[in-house]
Amino acid sequence: MMSHEYAKAVVKEGDCVVDATTGNGNDTVFLAELVGCTGKVYGFDIQHEAIDNTRKKLEERGFLERCVLINDGHENMAKYITEPVKLVMFNLGYRPGGDHSIATKGETTMQAIRAALEKLVVHGLILVVIYHGGDSGFSERDYLLAKLPELNSKICAVMHMNYLNLPNNPPMLVCIEKLKQTD
Ligand SMILES: C[S@@+](CC[C@H](N)C(=O)[O-])C[C@H]1O[C@@H](n2cnc3c(N)ncnc32)[C@H](O)[C@@H]1O
Repeated sequence: MMSHEYAKAVVKEGDCVVDATTGNGNDTVFLAELVGCTGKVYGFDIQHEAIDNTRKKLEERGFLERCVLINDGHENMAKYITEPVKLVMFNLGYRPGGDHSIATKGETTMQAIRAALEKLVVHGLILVVIYHGGDSGFSERDYLLAKLPELNSKICAVMHMNYLNLPNNPPMLVCIEKLKQTD
């Protein structure tokens, strides 16, 4: 997965990072491994079941102590995160195996991206995997692609990556690098 390759390139042991959509916990486990026992992962999801599944996976691997799981929307992350973060990862859409009607939404995702930018260290990264296809994701994709170019180019650089030859609406990746501290 390209998002994981980018995460590996920037995250070091001891870093503080955020999984903005824990879902079934796969990305949270991946990030918890990357930051090591001296690092910290904040994980957000609005579904109890997602938080429970994530907690179970982290416990099985002995990673729970380095993680803070929060059953609230990522748009509220500023309330919970007390330190600067190196990376914030969003895997948009609905939880695989869960209710398709409980999915991320363009407006709240954009609020969360702005909140994440405030918390990010300079040269820190926000990774957004946009799923669009099947029964949802199109309006969130369109909303984000309209709003992301409005982010201040003095503060961050936004890159948008697409697969050109894969079938069935493959996911898109957006990488946002923080260039300068916000005042
Ligand atoms: C595609 S899944 C995430 C997959 C996950 N990263 C994994 O590794 O299994 C998207 C998740 O976003 C959650 N979600 C939707 N709106 C949210 C919000 N405002 N804040 C946080 N999580 C949200 C959904 O409940 C769902 O579990």
